[in-house]
Amino acid sequence: DPTLAQDVLAAMRDIPDFPINGVVFKDFTPLLLDHALRSRIVADTVARQRGTVDVVAGIEARGFILGSMIAHELGVGFVPVRKEGKLPSAVHSVSYALEYGTATLEIHQDAVSNGERVLVVDDVLATGGTLEATCQLVESCGATVAAIELVLEIEALGGRSRLAGHQVNTVVTV
Ligand code: PRP
Ligand code: MG
Repeated sequence: DPTLAQDVLAAMRDIPDFPINGVVFKDFTPLLLDHALRSRIVADTVARQRGTVDVVAGIEARGFILGSMIAHELGVGFVPVRKEGKLPSAVHSVSYALEYGTATLEIHQDAVSNGERVLVVDDVLATGGTLEATCQLVESCGATVAAIELVLEIEALGGRSRLAGHQVNTVVTV
């Protein structure tokens, strides 16, 4: 799909001063509203990953939206990686540093099995903390991260260096 990257970039909205002053937020909700463009994003990942993964893990909240569509099209299960305290059964937890404070992500211990190949899906790679923690969660279940699929990578924040050794695919890099 040769024009996917430029079409995605054109559809994203820049929101100044969100969530704090001085930050320009890349809003991907217009992509969700556009069925044709959304389908192309899902198809792009599905074409790359068909037959290579056993299950998709989507990261709360925006990774749920894309990840569940991708899992559906791949014909595999979907695992939610959630923020602290939301999952009801026994979990693995990983905490990571934010600019101010820490964040914690969790996965059900029995969500993926030993040796399974997991496709991790989220919307944005920024500092990489979210994805690094998610890879650790997958690995603490004894599973393998087969690949990471994203819509947008913000290159200047250097998140990719925290994902060394993983296949990382993004539709758009800014
Ligand atoms: C955003 C985005 C990614 C993460 C990327 O999620 O959706 O998940 O930040 O940032 P990082 O690479 O610096 O870790 P956020 O935590 O804002 O929550 P949301 O998806 O629930 O809106
Ligand atoms: Mg998120």
